[in-house]
Formats: sequence, C-alpha cells, structure tokens
Amino acid sequence: MALSCACLLRSTMAVHWHVLFYCVCLLSVVLGVSRDNFKTCDQSGFCKRQRAMVPGHSHYVVELSSINMTPSSLELEVVNKKNNVRFKLELYALANNMARIKFNELSPLKPRYEIPIGDVLVKEPVLQSLKLVSQDSNSITTVFENTRVVITANPFRIDFITSDQPTVSFNTQGLLKFEHLRKKQGLLSRIGTSIYSWFSTPFRTAQPAEPAQEAAAENQEEKKEEQAPTPEAENSEPDMWEETFKSFVDSKPNGPSSVGIDISFPGFEHVYGIPEHADSFALKSTKSTDPYRLYNLDVFEYELYNPMALYGSVPVMLAHNEQKTVGVFWQNAAETWVDISSNVADKNFFNKMLDFVKGDQDIPQIDTHWFSESGIIDVFVMLGPKPQDVFSQYASLTGTTPLPPLYALSYHQSRWNYNDEEDVRNVDSNFDVHDIPYDVLWLDIEHTDGKRYFTWDSAKFPNPEDMVANLSSKGRKLVTIVDPHIKRDDNYRIYAEAKQKNLFIKNKDGGEYDGWCWPGSSSWPDFLEPAVRQWWASKFDPSEYKGTNNDVVTWNDMNEPSVFNGPEITLLKDAIHLSGWEHRDVHNVYGMHQHRATVEGQALKTNNHERSFVLSRSFFAGSQKYGAIWTGDNTGEWSHLKITVPMMLSLNVVGMTFSGADVGGFFRNPDDELLTRWYQAGAFQPFFRLHSHLDTKRREPWLLPEQNKNIIRAAVHTRYTFLPYWYTVFYQSEKTGSPVMMPLWVEYPEDSTTFKMDDQYLIGSALLVKPVVDQGIATMDIYFPGKGEVWYDILDFKTYAGGQTVKVDTPLDKIHAYQRGGHIIARKYRMRRSSTFMKNDPFTLFVCLSTNEISKGQLYIDDYHSNNYKKGDFVLREFVFENHKLTSRPLNKSSYRSKEWLERIIIVGLVKMPRKTTMHVEGSAPQDLDSQYFTETKVLVIRKPGVNIADNWTINIE
Ligand code: NOJ
Repeated sequence: MALSCACLLRSTMAVHWHVLFYCVCLLSVVLGVSRDNFKTCDQSGFCKRQRAMVPGHSHYVVELSSINMTPSSLELEVVNKKNNVRFKLELYALANNMARIKFNELSPLKPRYEIPIGDVLVKEPVLQSLKLVSQDSNSITTVFENTRVVITANPFRIDFITSDQPTVSFNTQGLLKFEHLRKKQGLLSRIGTSIYSWFSTPFRTAQPAEPAQEAAAENQEEKKEEQAPTPEAENSEPDMWEETFKSFVDSKPNGPSSVGIDISFPGFEHVYGIPEHADSFALKSTKSTDPYRLYNLDVFEYELYNPMALYGSVPVMLAHNEQKTVGVFWQNAAETWVDISSNVADKNFFNKMLDFVKGDQDIPQIDTHWFSESGIIDVFVMLGPKPQDVFSQYASLTGTTPLPPLYALSYHQSRWNYNDEEDVRNVDSNFDVHDIPYDVLWLDIEHTDGKRYFTWDSAKFPNPEDMVANLSSKGRKLVTIVDPHIKRDDNYRIYAEAKQKNLFIKNKDGGEYDGWCWPGSSSWPDFLEPAVRQWWASKFDPSEYKGTNNDVVTWNDMNEPSVFNGPEITLLKDAIHLSGWEHRDVHNVYGMHQHRATVEGQALKTNNHERSFVLSRSFFAGSQKYGAIWTGDNTGEWSHLKITVPMMLSLNVVGMTFSGADVGGFFRNPDDELLTRWYQAGAFQPFFRLHSHLDTKRREPWLLPEQNKNIIRAAVHTRYTFLPYWYTVFYQSEKTGSPVMMPLWVEYPEDSTTFKMDDQYLIGSALLVKPVVDQGIATMDIYFPGKGEVWYDILDFKTYAGGQTVKVDTPLDKIHAYQRGGHIIARKYRMRRSSTFMKNDPFTLFVCLSTNEISKGQLYIDDYHSNNYKKGDFVLREFVFENHKLTSRPLNKSSYRSKEWLERIIIVGLVKMPRKTTMHVEGSAPQDLDSQYFTETKVLVIRKPGVNIADNWTINIE
C-alpha cells in the first residue's frame, strides 16, 4: 500500500500520466483486486462451454467407409450425430517418430485460421510411410515406425500404441467439441433440428461394462441424452454471439468457434510444459482450480502457484515416466485452456487390443483437456521415446535458439530507468571502479522523446553516439527498448509512415485501432504481415534510428500486446488484422511476430553479419528462433526468487532456452540478503539481468554493504568463468534442441525421485545447481543423482556420491554448483571488464573424473559475435580422459584459429599421485609439464601446457 501511495503521489507531482496509470494498477494489486482484470474460466464463454462437457458422451462418429489413404496419411470423415455437421480428420505420419492429427470442419462457412508454414513451423513437416494394418467394422489400425495408431469409429477415439504400450490417446473421455461456424439463427440450426430427430439413439460410453451394469449405464445414458442440449439449445449456450467482460463487449461476428478435445497419457503420472505460468514444474491437477490458461497478458505483480495466464504461451506438453518421454504440441494461436487430472487407464479397452495389463493393478494415466477459442485442432504427437528425442522432434518442427553472441550470455545491467547520459556514465564506470564485469547497459522507455520509439529524449540523451562509443570502448553494448504501441501523433515519423502505408491493426469497423499505452493514444502495427515486418525491420538502420550503431540492440516489451484500456489489458478480440483475421484467431502469436520483425531489423542493419540480440516479453511456440525472453514483472520477494527455477524449467523443456527473470524482482525492494542470493541464482540461469521498477530503490551492487558487494562480484565473476561452458551448451542446444537448463530427469530418466523436483537443475549435462531461495537458512538438502556417480563442488572439489540427498551448509557467500564426475568443463579465469575483452584469454580445463577415472567434454569456440560460425568458422574440440591419458581432438574440420590457449588443466578425483605428466603435441617432441598433486582433494594441477586451444595433443599421466 505504502508503495502504491508513494507512487501515486510521485506521479501526480511529476504529471506523468502513464506512471499514474501504472500506479493505479499497482494500487489495485496491493488492494488485492488485480485478478478482477482477468477472466476466470467462468467468465469466458467458450471455456465454460467446453468445460461443461460431460465425459463419456461423445457424439462424434467416424465414417470408416470414407477412408482415403495416401502413402503417409489418411483422411476420414467424422460426423457429429447431434447436428449432423461433418468434419475431416487427418492423420499424418511424420519423420522422426512423430504424427500429426488435424480435425476441421469438412466445409466450414468460411475458412478457419491455420497458422501459416514459416510462422511457427519452420517448414512443411517431413512425412514418412503410414501403412494400413487392419480394418474392421469399428476401427482402423495403421502403423508407422514402431507405433500403431488405432482409430475407433464409435465412440470416436484415437490411440497411439508404441511397442505394445499405449502412450497417447485422443478423445478417450469423449470431450471432443468442435463448434462449427454458423449463421445466427440461420438455416443450419433449423436443418440441425430435423437431423437431430433422426439420430436420437444413444451412443456407447467410453468404458464397456458387464451386461447388467451395461444396461443400467445405458438407462443412465438415455436419461443424460434426454437432458443433452437440442441443437436450438446448443445455439443458445452462453456467450455464443456476444460476450461481455466488465464494460467490454466482444461482438463475436462469427459466433461460437471453439475447438476442444481430451488427450490422455496412459502409463504416465507427470506432465510438464505449457508455459507461461507461475507454477510448479510438474503440472498440477486442475480439478479444483481453473484450467491452465494460455493467453498472452500483461499481468501486474502476478501471483504464484496458480494457472493464470502470463505474458507468453507455448502449447506444448511433455509426459515422462521411467520408460519413456512423449509430448504433444497443440498448434493454435487463439486463447487456449488446458485441464489436467490424474486417472487410471481404461484396461478394458486396451485389453481388447493388446496384452496391456496383467493382474489387478491400475495403470496410472494423466488426462488433459485442451480447448481454444477458434482455429482448428492441429496436434503434433512426439513419441520420443527418450527426453532428448522429444526435444529434437519438437526442434525439427519449430526450430531452435541460434547461438547468442557471447555478450548476451554475460551479465546485463538494467533499470527503469537510467535517467540520462550522466547516469549511464556513472553506472558504467562504477562497474570498473568496483571491479565487476558487465556487458550490456539497458535503457527503458524514459530515454525516448515521449515514448516515441526510435527517438531520444534530447534533453537527457543529447549525444547518444558518444554514450554508445564509451560503452563500446569497454566492449559493452547498449539495449534500447522499442515497444509495439505507436503514439498516434502525425508529427511522429514512425506513426505517420505506418498510417500512410496502412500498417496498423483495425478495429471491427475498419478504422485504425486506437488504444492506450505508455505514450497515450496508440496504434499497433500488424506484425503478422510480412510487409509490416519488413518496414519495421528497416527502422533499425542507423540512418533511420539516429544515434545507434551495431552496438545497440533491442528490447521488445508490452507486446502481448498490453493495452491499458483494453479487455484484460490487451487488444479487443474483434479487432481486425490486415489479412482480415480477427485478433481472436491470432492473439498468442502477435508478440512473437514483433520479436521476429525486430530480429530481422537487427540482421538487416549489419547485413546479416552480426548475430542479433532481442529480448521479448511475449512469446509463442517457435519464439525460441528469435532469442531471449524473460518472465516479466516479478516481485522482490523470496517466493519469486524460488519460482524462477520451475518457470525456467517449464520454458526450457519446450524450447525456450534463452530465458531469465529480473534479478532482485521488478517490484519492491529486496533486502541485501535476497538481492545477494538472487545474483547467485541469476548467475546460473541462462539470461542474467538485473532490472527493477521506476519506483524501487537503486540497487547497483556497490550500493550494498561491502560484504554483499563482494559476494555479488564473486557471483558475477563465476558466471564469466563459466561463459565458455554456457556458450558450448547453447551451441549444442542450437544443434539438438536440448534444453540449456534442464530437469534432472532428462539425464536420469529412470530416477523417479527427480520427477517432481524443481528446486535444483542441470546446466547442460555436466553441472548441477541448487540456488538458495529461502531467507536465513543455515543448511539445505541437495539431491545428487546417479548411483555410482560422483559430483564435485566447483569451489573446493569436495565430493558427493550420486544417488543420495545430502545436507549442505549455506553460508551467504556459497554458490551450490557441482560438476559431474566424468565430465570436462572449460572455463576462463581472467577477470575483465566485459566478455568481449576475454576473447583471447586462456582456458582452464576442469577434468572431473568418474569413479572409474574416465572423463569427457566438449568446447565450442568462434569469434563470439558474428554469423561466420554458420559458414564453419568455429572450433569444436572433444577432450577425453581415459587410461591416464588426456586427449584433445577436433570434432569439426575448419581453418578457423583463434589466439585462445590452454593455461591450466585441473584433474579432479585422481586417486594416485602421478610421477610425471608429459605432453605430446602433434608434430612436436614430447615435453614434461609442471604439475602439482594435492593428496587431500585428489587434485592434479597441470600448469602451462601452453598449446593453442585448437591444437591436437595428448597428456600422459604416469
Ligand atoms: C513492463 C516491463 O515488464 C518492465 O520490465 C519495464 O520496465 C516496464 N514495462 C517499463 O517499460
């Protein structure tokens, strides 16, 4: 409350109306009413209608005679026996052990929205052979790879059976509901009435039963049938033709159009993904809550541990058990909700097809129910079976994050706002004074001329070129914010041009959509249009965006889009895009397209020579291709520090690898302990940026007590020492789609202890991290996975055997990170001002041995900033320690050479003190090396091997 009142006062005095708005919103948060800004399922017509579906009463029946097979797909007609509307079901077998199911109206009144290839899918998915195995009166069985797909006609369901185990099933609960497009009180509903009377016989329930029970069930069912809505009733279900939320009216000219179906995962107890939610990593049952919502929204001071929507949406879910990992990708850009519940598999059904269960035990099953407001049902089934397989399957559909430039993986310093050039100069030079490295300084909205993006406030930033040049001289970059709302001011060049070229989204009456955001009355470019993206991209050229150069990169905020006076603080659903689609159809991809256009702009201005860096708040499946995202306006509280790990794990397993949370929390003032702990945590998360609200106290590290400052310096320095590892992991992630930050079960898929774990994680496969996220604790428990494995504390090489939980001390200066035995990590130890200045610095190799004295690891290097690596200008090395020999060999052929060399090798876990160490460099005579063995820690330090990092060599340890 105090914060919001102070905020109100401040803004009134400063006559900053936009801050006033922000504060009013904040006030409502503090008073606990922010939830009112956002719909519950009960306030959303289609959510209510879809959720009201009763299991076991599907009216959809497949007409098996309509089968149309191609070498890799099949097509069937499906009829809704309630109203006789006909649908087309398509099944495709895709390369890489995937399948795709599409379900759409056979002849809709007009086309329904399908996301174009190239927007989310990187290309048309590659097909593979699908064979018809059998067909009887009620089912069709097809096969691809080792999966049988059984389509049952009545009751309609689809089952994926892999190696005789059911893995993913559709419509087992009969919740399919596809609202066909119709005319209001039109012909269709009248036709429907007469047709309905022809089909009043009840349909079977999903679960066959004993004869007596069956009769009873049938009776029961008949009663339900009687109660089931008639077509007229169906046409007058709630909110079908118009919907009101607060004072907002959604005109819904197309009437109801939602699509929904249930998807089950037999044999699974844990599902993950569908970010963005501030919730646990293992998704929870929604039986007593709203479903998880996917609708990109600007949520002030979001609450934790609930399924409310946040800024981004990735409709991808993974299911994992001891034997396998599978996933589904619901490709739909409209508002979506997902219900989750735990159940048991339908043994009766599966026993008919396979020897599924012997004995009485129940097979666990997760049931999920997905529904979107419009579009079609388009689901990719990713059949794993290993976690890494699902990651690469999803990556083959939607792409991976390109290797970021090294500065982007370094430490970022941000605040709303650094006030003027002097402020920037002071902050920048204080990092040098206090010996803390950093790479990027961020300017928030106040740097602009009245929130007109691509401009500068000339009083506060009269010489941006000099400011940037000063940063560049220290190898640093500047980020400026460029939001999507464009101030409606004819004297503002960007607005005038966009208006003249007709690039803005329209309201339902065809006029330019006019909403409120930071600059006041604003319009929004329609980034879904290639021509708009091209225009936007051209604006980043320094000839257009004065005062910038290649060292200035971008931050896209508020791109859900946030509209202060819109329903749920976003655009009206009946706003119209330039293509004619309603905003309702495409809402969740809007932010991604701004991100994309900005990345295209960054590429354009450097002739595609430099890698781009653009941070976006809003995102969708596929956004990973454009770079980084962060978790928005979190709060400077311990609980918000704690939630960073589950949130980032959820993002990472669905491809959004380059993600982070505002260090210290955006709202409120973290105390010294919390801020220190947050730095330590952030140093081990992919995107590492300090950021805070306009009204928070300044929190640059040197403003903290000396002890905290020193600990923060150490944390940031530790991040920099690990940059070669982050860089290598990001490179591997670009190639394979694997998460950068991952749950333990990715590496230990059979260890069920790890299935719900979301307070510790792995970076790549070699580093285990557990941040301290509780105030004032003296100890905490850490689980070291892998029986027979060994883990080494990165600070003192203390060892921990795998397969146990250990209580460890948590003094304030301690970071809890452990290198895995059997893994080699390369680090750089010289402390520099920025990562750019580390370019030629030497490496230290940390060779942590497994219990049988083996170790392996990779190192990737290139010029750290350009796209030349895509042409092969990089070095990828593999280091192997075996039989007391450490070898370095190339994994790629390239003439790329850098000056980086090997300064030190630290072999950890070497049981016996060696007599001598000899280095054999290819083409030179063997040479004895200076080394020292520490008996207590079993560490051998080899000094100055002195070779270039790209040399081939072997070191014998005798
Ligand atoms: C909202 C963003 O989430 C926050 O990070 C930023 O500082 C403000 N907008 C002002 O631009």
